[in-house]
Amino acid sequence: MQLPYAEPFKIKMVETIKQSTKEDRIQWIKDAKYNLFNLKSHQVFVDLLTDSGTGAMSDKQWSELMLGDESYAGASSYYKMKDAIKRILGFDYFLPTHQGRAAENVLFSVLVKEGDIVPGNSHFDTTKGHIEFRKATCNDCTIDEAFDTTIQHDFKGNIDLKKLEQVYQENPKEKIPMVIVTVTCNSSGGQPVSMQNIKEVSALSKKYGIKVVFDSARFAENAYFIKKREPGYADKTIKEIVAEMFSYADAMTMSSKKDAIVNMGGFIGFKDEELFKQASVFGIIFEGFITYGGMSGRDMNALAQGLDEGTEFPFLESRVEQVAYLGNKLKEYGVPIQEPIGGHAVFVDAKRFLPHLPKEDFVAQTLAIELFIEGGVRGVEIGAILADRDPVTRENRFPDLELLRLAIPRRTYTNNHMDYIAAALKNVYDRREQITSGVRILEEAPIMRHFTVELERK
Ligand code: F0G
Repeated sequence: MQLPYAEPFKIKMVETIKQSTKEDRIQWIKDAKYNLFNLKSHQVFVDLLTDSGTGAMSDKQWSELMLGDESYAGASSYYKMKDAIKRILGFDYFLPTHQGRAAENVLFSVLVKEGDIVPGNSHFDTTKGHIEFRKATCNDCTIDEAFDTTIQHDFKGNIDLKKLEQVYQENPKEKIPMVIVTVTCNSSGGQPVSMQNIKEVSALSKKYGIKVVFDSARFAENAYFIKKREPGYADKTIKEIVAEMFSYADAMTMSSKKDAIVNMGGFIGFKDEELFKQASVFGIIFEGFITYGGMSGRDMNALAQGLDEGTEFPFLESRVEQVAYLGNKLKEYGVPIQEPIGGHAVFVDAKRFLPHLPKEDFVAQTLAIELFIEGGVRGVEIGAILADRDPVTRENRFPDLELLRLAIPRRTYTNNHMDYIAAALKNVYDRREQITSGVRILEEAPIMRHFTVELERK
């Protein structure tokens, strides 16, 4: 008999989670103004709100916490992190930041000014927020295939070179501070970017004199997909693929809460010393001195260790294939999902799930509420609420995709939990025709409204 797959780790510590009743959940979500961010964590049974900062650290990472050096300047923890970033990612210079959006804030303070245009592949919402906050605009150059959840394409995170070149041709170079390549592309469904595409974007950008910046939160999952799907990479190690990917970047921003498997932390990597020096000024103002930048020494240690563990094949295989396990189960039940299945999350296509709901009813948010009521599973809307209003017209933006993201924390849940999630969603799917209306907005913030929006049922 062929031995079945089993995870390359065993569990050393557990945390109790509690079931609740449907009646409880109906009341809790109403009290939360139908915003899942307002739920208390004990009200949630399986929490798929995010894979960010929610992973389980290893014994080695916990050991590293004890070795943290909390010196204000020149801590050994800073040098441990510096060494890991140079060795694994190839960047000579770096600035620690407290998380990914802080890295964006520091770097964009140097690079982005009013009236600029920043092309990329479906910018993440904080990235877009930091660009639009500076009165600059994002230009989404993702390939068209990414916007149809039924199309099978190995690299739906790819940038369309024609769209990108058009941006380069139609705008003066001074107005384009960089192109942002998000690996994997979260907003289009945790979809990877191919090495070929990275190479081509880099060559085109070099021709026009534009910097290439990677938004790198899930770079290791991207490398896993390259290894599995792109010709010529099957025999390379993840670390070799990662090194090649970053050889094409001028700079990177990193939310280490994802692929470096820590609860908090981030950084910016630079190839160019001058840019590093300019960003250091903002790093000091916003984050802290350049050798800690908003992080404690212990967290820098855990991050350095996490970068090593997060770029090992057996871990990545267990992680990405668990996400695929959930996705395939949902497919078996007929639930419409974004295909191929993403690296960190399964994205349920809410428009195909609830085709009878008008977009003004916030379809993906409605589905997120129903899934919580059904099984205490908390996902997150990636749709019109997240898309915010247009900064100029203040009209609601209705994106092509209305998705319910089920983000799987790393090393946290078992496949029994995956079965549970799938069953809960199947039950909602079976009663989908009884869901005849969605929600309306009562109150919202002017930007990044999804965190605090208050809703009522229509
Ligand atoms: N870039 C990407 C691609 C992200 O997914 C995130 C965060 C960030 C930047 C910002 O990083 O949270 O450390 O400040 N994504 C989380 C998520 C919040 O749930 O997808 P951060």
